[in-house]
Amino acid sequence: MNNIVKCLVLFSVFTQNVLGLKILVLFPLPARSHYNLGVQLAKGLTQFGHEVTIVAAFSEPKPPKGFKEIYLPELVEMRENSDNEMGKVNMFEMENINPIFQVLFLNHAGALWTDLVFNHTKVQALLKSNEHFDVVILEQFLNDAHKYFAYHFNAPLVLFSTVGANAWVNNFVGNPEPASYIPNVFLSYYQEMTFLERMWNFIFGIIFELNSQLYFYPKQNEILHKYIPDAPHINELNYNISLLLLNSHESINQAVPNVPNMVNIGGYHVDPPKELPRDLKEFMDNAKDGVIYFSMGSNLVPSMMPKDKKEAIMKVLGSRKEKVLWKWDDKNLKVPSNFFVSNWFPQQAILSHPNCKLFITHGGLLSTTETVYLGVPVLAFPIFGDQKLNAARASSLGFGKSLPFSTINEHNLAGTLNELLENPKYHQNAKIRSQLLHDRPVKPIDLANYWIEYVVRYKGANHLRVAAVNLPFYKYHMLDVIGAVLGGLVLIAYLLSKLCCRRKASAKSQSKEKGE
Ligand SMILES: *[C@@H]1O[C@H](CO)[C@@H](O)[C@H](O)[C@H]1NC(C)=O
Repeated sequence: MNNIVKCLVLFSVFTQNVLGLKILVLFPLPARSHYNLGVQLAKGLTQFGHEVTIVAAFSEPKPPKGFKEIYLPELVEMRENSDNEMGKVNMFEMENINPIFQVLFLNHAGALWTDLVFNHTKVQALLKSNEHFDVVILEQFLNDAHKYFAYHFNAPLVLFSTVGANAWVNNFVGNPEPASYIPNVFLSYYQEMTFLERMWNFIFGIIFELNSQLYFYPKQNEILHKYIPDAPHINELNYNISLLLLNSHESINQAVPNVPNMVNIGGYHVDPPKELPRDLKEFMDNAKDGVIYFSMGSNLVPSMMPKDKKEAIMKVLGSRKEKVLWKWDDKNLKVPSNFFVSNWFPQQAILSHPNCKLFITHGGLLSTTETVYLGVPVLAFPIFGDQKLNAARASSLGFGKSLPFSTINEHNLAGTLNELLENPKYHQNAKIRSQLLHDRPVKPIDLANYWIEYVVRYKGANHLRVAAVNLPFYKYHMLDVIGAVLGGLVLIAYLLSKLCCRRKASAKSQSKEKGE
């Protein structure tokens, strides 16, 4: 008996095995697409024997073993109410909004839901409870104050970035983001930029950073201290990151530097169901000329689409030989005979059907990841946030085309569809991208689990952090050294000029003397 216990102790010491962690996953953003990422991660982690508690605004109908919820449905309602206050933003109208206004809009939205989450009674109860967690995973999305949860539970903080490596997270782990070849997440550039694009990327990056440092983080700090007066300052929490999980991969996103505690797990959330619902399956099986799948994601309300655009798109799609899956929130909409309308589609199952020929999308990163994973070309109508960037990448990488929403008309849409559906190169490129996304040493969810256990095993894994996180801005950018060098040069120039002048002056006075 004693020996068995000894053996077990030795076993766990030698393998440093983490047997069943208690993990807190915070994905409180009241947006379905973000939740999908959170719940797939949480469910994925339960497979490894961990007990995972997810804080979210949605609920999982089929929770696996070890999956717990702190379900905050009120957040969705509150968000809708506050949208009303803001005059019900029609996202379709945000397309040509200057990125600076997008940043200002998100300032407001971020502060709002950060506050709503802290204010929720179930969250208050969690903070007052005696719960223990080994690690906290937080979706970083304009909610920096929520990093406090890791501090509260005295657990390493794992950040999750929905939109890959970008200006929202790079600073926190000291990851470089040169404006010369990495476009800001709000701009629609690809890695090769013209002089003017680089200039705007550079200036916009500075504006973005100033907004973060002078407005956004102080505001987050204020919200945090409103609820937890003795919490550390937001800057202490922001730069104390053990691991940064990125919902991205080089097959979809451009290749960028990653410091050692950044791990790409893009694609982990794709898990298509085996079967389509019967009516959909029949529709797709019988589509001899293929199926075009049209969906503008979960945040855009389809019926708010401007009428002329809707009519143009329906007319062009209605005249094609392919069948069309049309995601729309109004069932009474009159549609052409080759359409199948629904307000919800099992997107991954549709994209994995062999007859799916094209995905018409807003270009959100989830949709883009799923389409790349399943090897279907895209036509993107990008509107907001990172959609333009993703669409620009799809065009540059040759697995799709991008048509700015406001420019759509029957003529250019028909032409673009012809090109995408008749020229086999888009399909081939989509397949190559898919292959690249699959060709990796371990499955992305295994990778995520490995690194999460790793940072628990090594108590936050401080050794993975680059020293940049401890440097103030001026030191990181060597402003003091540049200043000193420039100052030195100016001083030398000054001394030289003095010397010259004195020589000249003395030469002059000598020549004067001679002349006289
Ligand atoms: C920083 O993280 C470590 C664990 O990784 C934790 O013990 C510490 O309390 C954290 N400090 C702050 C200020 O968040």
